Amino acid sequence: MDRYVVFGNPIAHSKSPVLQRLFAEQTGQSMQYDALLAPLDDFAGCASAFFQEGRGANVTVPFKEDAYRLANSLTPRAQRAGAVNTLSKQADGTLLGDNTDGAGLVRDLTVNAGFSLKGKRILILGAGGAVRGVLEPMLAESPASVTIANRTVDKAEVLAELFSDLGPVAASGFDWLHEPVDLIINATSASLAGEVPPIASSLIEPGQTLCYDMMYGKEPTPFCVWATEQGAGQVMDGLGMLAEQAAEAFYLWRGVRPDTAPVLAEVRRLLFT
Ligand code: ATR
Repeated sequence: MDRYVVFGNPIAHSKSPVLQRLFAEQTGQSMQYDALLAPLDDFAGCASAFFQEGRGANVTVPFKEDAYRLANSLTPRAQRAGAVNTLSKQADGTLLGDNTDGAGLVRDLTVNAGFSLKGKRILILGAGGAVRGVLEPMLAESPASVTIANRTVDKAEVLAELFSDLGPVAASGFDWLHEPVDLIINATSASLAGEVPPIASSLIEPGQTLCYDMMYGKEPTPFCVWATEQGAGQVMDGLGMLAEQAAEAFYLWRGVRPDTAPVLAEVRRLLFT
């Protein structure tokens, strides 16, 4: 049976095995998918050993940059992201590195939520790897503007500069912004500390602005709670992005696109019970 894994450290709580197994079941693909704890100091050795037999892998924290370095070739979006979340063994035995995170986010917004990004004013909070991973696919949707706001403004400036050839992207501090926007994406890890990035509530136009947290959990994240309190038009967590990036990886490996809606509903049910 064709073997696939997700590499991470830690990996015990990864939702990838349940997502990929449900996709395989739904599409009748014969494949095995497991979680694999890679050692922090030897991702390359662990991945190379797996790929003696294995066909493909998802890669999560903290190995996405290691996977970028390990890949023999890269898709343009992985090249731009500087990180790889999907490895695929090619017919000639080499490893192709892709990054499906941005496509997953865009699909969750445009298909699942029916929210077109074209002509929209977008604010992204954070300037780490999560943001770098999604900027190219977001800018490809032709938004009116993308503002990257970060606690450490320098890091937002570096990212804005890196992607400035792809569209209207600017850097900012959290407290410089006051005008309402159409979409706010929280890509900081502030929720892990139970915090919300200190942005003005005037950025949310009540009943209009879509607020999206890349994080998710059993309970609504602090950012989602805050956005709901401010009267945001729609509030979403990142579980849909997780399912969509997984589906993109599945498509790359198997050439079949799974229907994510029933799988997402099942994973949400498992997560919430
Ligand atoms: P990831 O790969 O998930 O993006 P990262 O590269 O460590 O992780 O980036 C974490 C992001 O969350 C950064 O933008 C960080 O801000 P700084 O660059 O100023 O460190 C942001 N962040 C983390 N904790 C935060 C908090 N409590 N409030 C606001 N921003 C926070």
